[in-house]
Amino acid sequence: MKKKPVKIMDTIFRDASQSKIATRMRLEDMLPIAEKLDRVGYHSVEMWGGATFDSCIRYLDEDPWERIRELKKRMPNTKMQMVIRGQSLVGYRHYPDDVVIRFVEKAAENGIDIFRPFDALDDVRNLKTVIETVKKMGKIAEGTICYTISPVHTIGLILDKARQLEDLGIDLFCLKDMAGLLAPYTASRIVRRLKKTLGVPIHLHTHDTSGMGAMTYLKAIEAGVDIIDTVLSPFSEGTCQPPTESLVMTLKGTPYDTGLDLALLADIADDVREMKKKYKEFETGLGGVDSKIMVTQIPGGVMSNMVAQLRQGKALHRLNEILEEIPKVRKDLGYIALVTPTSQIIVVQATLNVLTGERYKVITKETRELLRGGYGETPGPVNPELQKKALKGESPIHCRPADLIPPQWDQLKKELKGITELEEDILTYALFPHIALDFFKRRNQRLTPPIEISKQMVTP
Ligand code: CO
Repeated sequence: MKKKPVKIMDTIFRDASQSKIATRMRLEDMLPIAEKLDRVGYHSVEMWGGATFDSCIRYLDEDPWERIRELKKRMPNTKMQMVIRGQSLVGYRHYPDDVVIRFVEKAAENGIDIFRPFDALDDVRNLKTVIETVKKMGKIAEGTICYTISPVHTIGLILDKARQLEDLGIDLFCLKDMAGLLAPYTASRIVRRLKKTLGVPIHLHTHDTSGMGAMTYLKAIEAGVDIIDTVLSPFSEGTCQPPTESLVMTLKGTPYDTGLDLALLADIADDVREMKKKYKEFETGLGGVDSKIMVTQIPGGVMSNMVAQLRQGKALHRLNEILEEIPKVRKDLGYIALVTPTSQIIVVQATLNVLTGERYKVITKETRELLRGGYGETPGPVNPELQKKALKGESPIHCRPADLIPPQWDQLKKELKGITELEEDILTYALFPHIALDFFKRRNQRLTPPIEISKQMVTP
């Protein structure tokens, strides 16, 4: 058989931090490890985006932009990869195109090589501006579709969206299984079809939450997948990715041999294990297999947060009713996937539907916005009666939501006059205005942040 080495992205500095230690990993702990990682020969190392940006300024008193520059210095030979929520960047709402374009430009200039944009609704129009800007900057665009299970999510739908992304000029295609729901034989079928349909390499992202991660990768590899996401063993399994070393060992001596040095990986894993000890208080999720996720589809991080909030509100005894309500709300909202920020929208609405004693007695601002089309086109049709009730006579929109958002850059610049002129700072402020101002103040006074232990409710 012809050699077809599988390439590996290690998620150690992004998804691992987010899935296992509430996104608290500090730059100072990454730097010595990064120097060693640079010798491994990974396809890429994921080190930015998702919740890391928010966490930097909210909890760690770190400049997220400095993180890119410092890691780049330690990993000059390794491609640095980020995950980006399409038009929402690393925030939770859609931003105007002028902010999105500047954000991607600055991320590229500071050192990001591969951008993985995804959209919670898989509305490809929400990825367009990011992909076009990545291409303009000469960087690598990895168009992404989220994997979820519903009556409308067929392989045909994935192939159709993947083709739309290819038309936008992506360099790589990623299937992102953020909850660990992708079963091995399904992965094999999907990858086979993707390989026949697309001309670009296929990158698969899964989580080991359900215990299927490594098996899913193996079947995907046999079906021709080009790149997989793993993490060094101390952060592996459970809510994170399968272990890098195990996959490297599994493939050794086969046509899929990664060529990575196991002794070097074992050595780095020792350092990572030591480093992880510092974050014991932030360790989240179950270490082992969570079979419930196959039933509820609710990502581990979202579930633990929901339980904590219900306990606080003395409503934990209603959990099972809420778990039954979640799939019903999801159906009403067009079978959107449970990923940031739609996971929050569904969970909050389902909770209100149960706790108020009447379905949709209270409709949240976010549910209404989703029904209005403000997040884009949902994968399936929304419940028309609910839409009518929520919109109260207003018509839904059908265009790309950002087409209706006016430019903001000049206004943001004006608001920061006298505080900072750095474009990176203006972007930080555009994303998290209140926290950013506090952060700039602390940065200038070199104070340490208040210690907070609240967990973030984000999907990895
Ligand atoms: Co993930």
